[in-house]
Amino acid sequence: MKAADRSDPPCYAMVVPGLESVAADEITRDLGGTVRKIDRGIVIFRVPHIGPELLRLRTVEDVFLLAWGTDALTRRAADLESIRKWTARDADWANLLRIHHSIRPKPAGKTSWHAVTQMQGERGYRRTDARDKLLEGLTGHIPAGWPIVDDNAAVEVWLTLQDSMAVCGVRLSDSSMRHRTYKQEHRPASLRPTVAAAMARLAGAGPDAVILDPCCGMGTILAEAIALARSRGFTVTAIGGDTEWGAVSGAGVNLRRGVGLARWDARELPLATECVDRILANPPFGKQLSTPEEVPGLYRDMVREWDRVLRPDGRAVVLVAEHDALTRPALARGWVGVRQLRVRVLGQLATLSVWRKPPRSA
Ligand SMILES: C[S@@+](CC[C@H](N)C(=O)[O-])C[C@H]1O[C@@H](n2cnc3c(N)ncnc32)[C@H](O)[C@@H]1O
Repeated sequence: MKAADRSDPPCYAMVVPGLESVAADEITRDLGGTVRKIDRGIVIFRVPHIGPELLRLRTVEDVFLLAWGTDALTRRAADLESIRKWTARDADWANLLRIHHSIRPKPAGKTSWHAVTQMQGERGYRRTDARDKLLEGLTGHIPAGWPIVDDNAAVEVWLTLQDSMAVCGVRLSDSSMRHRTYKQEHRPASLRPTVAAAMARLAGAGPDAVILDPCCGMGTILAEAIALARSRGFTVTAIGGDTEWGAVSGAGVNLRRGVGLARWDARELPLATECVDRILANPPFGKQLSTPEEVPGLYRDMVREWDRVLRPDGRAVVLVAEHDALTRPALARGWVGVRQLRVRVLGQLATLSVWRKPPRSA
């Protein structure tokens, strides 16, 4: 990596709320970045060099070049003039667009652009008012000949207002960052790849580890665990299964060759005792079952079986909505809770927990 260019602006990433610390870890460790600020769903950072490697971050949904940011929104109408002024005066738009084009070359023909405004919380103004002020502030900074389009714009300027904080910048990523190109088969309960990538990082599997997803669905978690290992220069053995044929075959399409997939019940796995180093699981949430009351019994039987196949000192990373139903059997098996994150998935609050099975006593 070359030394930090003084004209390089800070960047920010949008992340699934709850995963900020995991994204910050990826930015620091994998890109050598420095995290400047974390807010709900937003990580502001600097990297030694702004280049295409930013788009290879796996735990973030989107990456932006920061034009300006503030913690000083009043949520009253006076903010609107501040938004216009900061946009007009506080950002070096020519530099931001130059960097954007160096990473995402301009398409042939006229460059199209688009402005996006996101707003959370009660305010004395509407989202469209904020957008109008953003557009006013951008006057003279975006070439006059660039057409504004609704879809597939070559350049997107985003303004995100969240409580008293705002960030405004140029989007570097496109939707392929969050959706991934490998994901050809989808299902409604399929996990967001960025959440699966966070689970893979939290699992901390080393070279040649055997990784199991007992409720694999479309295989997102295994795909991310394999990709993480590859990015670190080693391989892992991935095994997965699901009760549904449709899931097993969908996972086969998404994962392609090299992964052992089977139709099975995660409560009775056709696997040898203590043969697995890491379990990464996103079992069904109560609302996905015909009778949500089944959850405590289902998780109890799953944990019993996972404890059998997991090696001593192995780890389990599990995402569930009904965390108590998981905690009780995990503690009963002697598993030690290592980390817990509250995340929002599929519009629902869930807990991502990391567990360690105790080492074999001497
Ligand atoms: C929340 S989804 C997993 C989604 C998956 N992580 C993905 O990205 O597609 C839960 C999965 O568990 C499966 N499942 C439910 N009960 C199971 C059981 N007893 N054994 C194995 N899989 C089960 C469901 O068929 C479903 O595919």
